[in-house]
Amino acid sequence: TPCFLNGEFTPLRDAKISVLDRGFIFGDGIYEVIPVYFGVPFCFDEHIARLERSLAELQIDNPYTRDEWRAIATQLAAPQGKAPQAIYFQVSRGVAPRDHAMVRGLRPTVFAMVNPLPPVADAVRAKGVACVTADDFRWQKAHIKSTSLLGAVLARQISVEAGATETVMFRGEWLSEASSSNVWIVKDGTLIGPPKDNLVLTGIRYGLLERLCQDSGIPFALRRVSRDEVFGADELLLSSATKEVLPVVTLDGQAIGNGHPGPIYQSLYAAYQQAKQ
Ligand code: PDD
Repeated sequence: TPCFLNGEFTPLRDAKISVLDRGFIFGDGIYEVIPVYFGVPFCFDEHIARLERSLAELQIDNPYTRDEWRAIATQLAAPQGKAPQAIYFQVSRGVAPRDHAMVRGLRPTVFAMVNPLPPVADAVRAKGVACVTADDFRWQKAHIKSTSLLGAVLARQISVEAGATETVMFRGEWLSEASSSNVWIVKDGTLIGPPKDNLVLTGIRYGLLERLCQDSGIPFALRRVSRDEVFGADELLLSSATKEVLPVVTLDGQAIGNGHPGPIYQSLYAAYQQAKQ
C-alpha cells in the first residue's frame, strides 16, 4: 500500500526517515486518526482543527493548508474502495542533532498512511465489553494528541493483561479517559462526560456525540465525574474514531447498570450510523 512521506507518495515498505528524527528520539510530534466512510473522511475539518491546535502547542508550523491535508487523505483513501479506512497523519518537529531544546526552522517530517478500519464485531456490540481501571499516571497535557504515547501504551497493557478492552483512568477520584478512548456515563437518561480540559484528549466524538444527543433529544452534560458515579452509572460508554461508541458492561469485574448495553447506547449507535451515511 502507498503512504505519504514529506511530499511524496511511496510504497509503505520504502518509506524511511532519519534515526535523528525528533519523533523517534523524543516523541516530539503529533498525530491524528481519521475514519473514512464510503470514501469520504468523516469529521475531517474537526480533525484538522485539532491537528492545528496540537501543532500550535508544540510550536511547530503547520506545513499544509486544510485543502492540502484533505488532498493527501483523499489520494491515500481513494484506491482502497468503499470499505471503512483510517487515515493516520503524523507530524514531527524534524531531524536535528539530539538536543532537548526546540530547534527552530526545521522542516517537519510529515507522514500519512491508510489502514482498513474493520467495524467492531456485531457480537461484541451486542454483548458489550469489559474494562478495568487504573490511576491516570500520564502527564498533565493529555489534550495534545502527541506521539509521546508511553503513558497510553503502559495504560493499555494493563487491560491487555486483564483480558479487557480498555483501561479507564482516574486522577484521584475523578474520571479522565481511557488509554485511547473517551469515557462517558449515562445517569437518569443524561450523557455525561468529563470537561474539555488539559487532562483529557478532547475526542472529535465530543462534538459529534453532543450533536447526536441534541438530534435525539438526549440531555448532554460535561462536568467532573467521580469514581462512585462511574461504578453507579446506568450505562458506561467508550468513544473513539475506531470504536465509534461502544458499551462497557463490566468494570473491574463489576456489572455496570444491568450488565447489558443500554437504551442510550442503542440510540447513539443508531444515530452514529446515520451520521456516517
Ligand atoms: N485515539 N482519548 C485518547 C487518549 C485517545 O487516544 C483518543 C483517540 C480519544 C478519542 O478521540 P477521537 O474521538 O478523536 O478518536 C480519546 C486514537 C483513535 C488512536 O490513538 O488510535
